Amino acid sequence: MTAPEPSAEPFFILGIETSCDETAAAVVGDGNQVLSSVVSSQLDLHARFGGVVPEIASRAHVELLSPTVAQALVEAGKEGPQIGAVAATVGPGLASALLVGVSVGKALSLVWKVPFVGVNHMEGHLYACFLHEPELELPLVALLVSGGHTLLVHMEDHGCYRVLGTTIDDAVGEAFDKVARFLGLGYPGGPAIDRISASGDPQAFDFPRAMEREGYDFSFSGLKTSVTRYARAHPEADVADLAASFQRAAVEVLVSKARRAVDDTGAQTLCVGGGVGANTLLRRRIAEVCEQDGVATVIPTPHLCTDNAAMVAAAAWWRMRADGPTSLEAGVDPNLRLA
Ligand code: KG4
Ligand code: ZN
Repeated sequence: MTAPEPSAEPFFILGIETSCDETAAAVVGDGNQVLSSVVSSQLDLHARFGGVVPEIASRAHVELLSPTVAQALVEAGKEGPQIGAVAATVGPGLASALLVGVSVGKALSLVWKVPFVGVNHMEGHLYACFLHEPELELPLVALLVSGGHTLLVHMEDHGCYRVLGTTIDDAVGEAFDKVARFLGLGYPGGPAIDRISASGDPQAFDFPRAMEREGYDFSFSGLKTSVTRYARAHPEADVADLAASFQRAAVEVLVSKARRAVDDTGAQTLCVGGGVGANTLLRRRIAEVCEQDGVATVIPTPHLCTDNAAMVAAAAWWRMRADGPTSLEAGVDPNLRLA
């Protein structure tokens, strides 16, 4: 893809995100000016079940999406006719949840007579980095870490990706959530572990760091099992120490693989996207090693790391330039891959 020609009038895209448990809408100008970004969280609805319940998520999206879109337009000071395209996440994610956003996105594109653009959720997480730093230089390495995915990606150009590694079992966010649930820290687990770790000793337990020096693939299931086994066998163990030691092991594996990928590919920049990118220790460690290595680093603010629709509109801007609009006949793909 080549960079779009600058134009006098910004091109406004309404982004819609409903792939999991956040109902989100945003208006973004020229792929990087965030005029509004509204996230209506469903966390309270799912918390008592200890995880996302797909049926509850899709019903909540149906109720929340219209007011969320309306709020995004009002906050952006835009009305339908000023929107140049409507974008929605088409995958990966929960099928019934994706369908809500895609149906509303297509309907709005028909009403406003503007193009519809289907967006890959993980490409959205990557493009959150361009919202944070529009002048990001390519090629770069991106570490995309969420509740469903753990991806190490070499991005050579816009829309041109090589997946270097992925998880062979649990996604890293999933491991945070499962360990937190076991330790009685509630849902969502990542932020809970992050918080309690601040008062724990990260050196208290030496949990395994699977495959740390082998290739680029990740494995977090053994780490999760090791923590839960230890906690079961030692009920007296301090929960903050367990959480902090788990977090240290998970983060160090992510950091050392990402660092090696940058070195091996010769990329000048390391970007981080996805909900786990909000993690305090991960953000600190990535910044530290990149400074040591003389590599630029971009980690969007925490609210641009976790699910939002500004990232969807940002990715759509580049996608539309490369591929044009998405056919209204196209459906959702819960297992959509990045490359
Ligand atoms: O990208 P995201 O918002 O949704 C998905 O695409 O899955 O990521 C959600 C994941 C959850 O597993 C959540 O526990 C984790 O990101 N997460 C965190 C933090 N904030 C969210 N994990 C560690 N530390 C955090 N501060
Ligand atoms: Zn996500």
